[in-house]
Amino acid sequence: MPALVLLGAQWGDEGKGKATDLLGGSVDYVVRYQGGNNAGHTVVVGDQKYALHLLPSGILSPGCTPVIGNGVVVDPAVLLSELSGLNERGVDTSKLLLSGNAHLITPYNITVDKVTERFLGKRKIGTTGRGIGPTYADKINRVGIRVQDLYDESILTQKVEAALDVKNQLLTKLYNRRAIEAGQVVEELLGYAEQIKGYVADTTLVLNKALDDDKVVLFEGGQGTLLDIDHGTYPFVTSSNPTAGGACTGAGVGPTKINRVIGILKAYTTRVGAGPFPTELFDEDGEALRRIGGERGVTTGRDRRCGWFDAVIARYATRVNGLTDFFLTKLDVLTGWEQIPVCVAYEIDGKRVEELPYSQTDFHHAKPVYETLPGWSEDITQAKSFSDLPKNAQAYVKALEEMSGAPISAIGVGPGRDETIEINSFLS
Ligand code: GDP
Ligand code: IMO
Ligand code: MG
Repeated sequence: MPALVLLGAQWGDEGKGKATDLLGGSVDYVVRYQGGNNAGHTVVVGDQKYALHLLPSGILSPGCTPVIGNGVVVDPAVLLSELSGLNERGVDTSKLLLSGNAHLITPYNITVDKVTERFLGKRKIGTTGRGIGPTYADKINRVGIRVQDLYDESILTQKVEAALDVKNQLLTKLYNRRAIEAGQVVEELLGYAEQIKGYVADTTLVLNKALDDDKVVLFEGGQGTLLDIDHGTYPFVTSSNPTAGGACTGAGVGPTKINRVIGILKAYTTRVGAGPFPTELFDEDGEALRRIGGERGVTTGRDRRCGWFDAVIARYATRVNGLTDFFLTKLDVLTGWEQIPVCVAYEIDGKRVEELPYSQTDFHHAKPVYETLPGWSEDITQAKSFSDLPKNAQAYVKALEEMSGAPISAIGVGPGRDETIEINSFLS
């Protein structure tokens, strides 16, 4: 089983960090393939809690080589501070590989992210303000700065000047901000060059060789399916492809190499930032999910919006990612509810709809059609096998599996590495 993709099946924060970390001990490489430090992946190892933003969660597993692929956008200051934070806690980060083709988040990309959001006012996306969208925009506009540019001062200067040409016009004439000086940006970027140099590699070559040698490679998505630029709730999305295809373009491996695609699925639903969310709760149940689930953003500290499980979204994630398995997380958070509503379909303008509508207007009008499942009150955090779960919890999992279109192969019953029920091995 050499190559697996692990990705979010909802709007992010499904528990990807924990799931990756759990597999990290058994895989040779863990690769981030898109996004940047907009991600916030929490990993709990014993009494230690780590919040990773840019580095793949596999960095916490000693045998594993962490890789930042070409599809990731990299803020070099964040990269260095995340590495030194881990080093201070005794984590060896020396094996990290960073694609020379990954694009750099520059200070002006962060400025543009912030001013654009301010300018959008009520229509803002609620971005993380980390410069993600503007950096991908520069990449697509072919005025991006790549990691490899740090090692040719003349090219770097030309590229930064080209990127700033138009931006400074916008900043000064439209947004009423001061122009950004190319020379200062170049100087700052060159200041990172030597510190990063030892990690830079042709990661596509390394990963394809590893796959040829039957090494196990795990591709770890940031964000989630519904935040995908193509398949998510556009425009309330991030600017990359967390969906399975993104692993191929964002790491430079062919689709024929990938044998398993695991969707991380929370037992209820959360979302950070703006955009439609049919099962969102505005009552005490939503508040309770937020409190019990600790639903506060790892990156921006914003409260997450909370709602019941949405099977329409889970089915959609199965479809657009070709999911082979689900990893259901946070089942323990639902302990204590007498009845648990699950959204099985939408009602859109009086019609029952089973599949996620492609039309933004329809999705904004979607009202959840709920089925109510009986809850359980027993503590499940110590459960080690499916049969340890109370009957109603088992029935809840089985119902979700049936509605979602792929087998649930693992269940999270707590944040720790060992608080997991394994049903089917991901590595066999
Ligand atoms: P990610 O962005 O997908 O990696 O997810 P986050 O780390 O942003 O949010 C998931 C949160 O849920 C983190 O605080 C995890 O420690 C926690 N978590 C993950 N799995 C479980 C689980 O099965 N039960 C509980 N109670 N917490 C979990
Ligand atoms: P992980 O990897 C949840 C959301 C932002 C905003 C939108 C666009 O922890 O699941 P961006 O800064 O990417 O341009 O913001 O996407 N967003 C996330 N929401 N989890 C994440 O990452 C997210 N990364 C971005 O809140 O709505
Ligand atoms: Mg997160």
